[in-house]
Parts: sequence; structure tokens; C-alpha cells
Amino acid sequence: MKAMASAAKTISGIFDGKLAYDAAAFKAAAETIRRRSGSAMVDAFPADTLGEPSAAKTEIEQSREEFAALARHLESLATALSDAANDAPDGITEAMRMKPGMAMGGGLLGKRVGGAAEADPSKMPAEHVFHLILQDCTNCHGKFREKRR
Ligand code: HEC
Repeated sequence: MKAMASAAKTISGIFDGKLAYDAAAFKAAAETIRRRSGSAMVDAFPADTLGEPSAAKTEIEQSREEFAALARHLESLATALSDAANDAPDGITEAMRMKPGMAMGGGLLGKRVGGAAEADPSKMPAEHVFHLILQDCTNCHGKFREKRR
């Protein structure tokens, strides 16, 4: 999770222009998230590790399907982000940028994210995909991570 957090920070810095664009670093960060999501993420939380002292809630065991779906969703988004780096060797392209109104999952796509008719992430601007990734982090933590002071 720490590696994913630092990867997300790198990608966010690149989109914000706080970090110089580097296709290899961008791709490596997306790959870090991809490799740690999906079934790898499910495998990282076996039943006997849930609950104290871990911040992983025991609810994960009761909601295996939902947890796995979140992990898989994150994986498919990270895959799209990683692929986007291949098409942008020299810098963030216009096509990678989010258009106004997309931040809430509406805009050009016209559909709420997470809905049954969710659009194909490989066809979305990479910046939008990244926002959806952050939503997955938040959604899963909100449900399955214990708040620590
Ligand atoms: C499918 C569920 C799920 C998703 C998706 C998810 N996390 Fe987590 N995350 C957890 C759980 C459960 C914990 C608490 C257990 C632990 O710390 O390993 C956690 C803990 C963390 C922590 C604190 C623990 C540490 O090692 O410092 C960070 C930071 C973190 N996640 C970052 C992220 C980021 C960034 C993303 C998105 C790119 C993300 N997580 C996506 C479930 C998820």
C-alpha cells in the first residue's frame, strides 16, 4: 500500500506539473498500482490477517466479492493508465487531459462511474482514469480500512 501511495503521488505530481514528465517514471508508477491490485491485492488480505492489529477490517471476509471487485476495478484502471504512457513518450498529450465536467464522472461520458454501463477506461483520458483510481482507493478505505488516529 505504501508503494501504491507513492506511485499515486508521482502520477499526481506529473499531472499537476510539479514533477517533470517522464514516460518511464509515469509507466512505472502505473505498473506499481496495477501489479498490486487485482488478485494480488485480494491475496494480500487473507482471513487470518484481518482485524487487530491490522488496519484491514474483518468485513473484508464478509464482503469478499465486493473487495475483489474493487481490487479488479483498480487493476483495469491502472492497466489503462500504464498503456497510456506508451502513447506519450514525450509528454502529457492533449488526449490524456481531462475535459471540463469529467471530474464527477459525468461530462462527455454522461454516465456515473461505477454504474453498470461504465465506459471503457482505455478510451478515457488518462487524467480522468487517474481520478477514478483515487476514487477506488477512497472507496475501499472507507469500507474496509480501520481509521487510525
Ligand atoms: C480493495 C481495497 C483497497 C484499495 C482499492 C486500495 N486500498 Fe489502500 N488499504 C486497504 C486496506 C484494507 C488497508 C489497511 C490495511 C493495510 O494497511 O494494509 C489499506 C491501507 C492503505 C494505506 C496505509 C497503510 C500503509 O501501508 O501505510 C495506504 C497509504 C494506502 N492503503 C494507499 C492506497 C492507495 C494510494 C490506493 C489506490 C491507488 C489504495 N490504497 C487502494 C485497501 C485498499
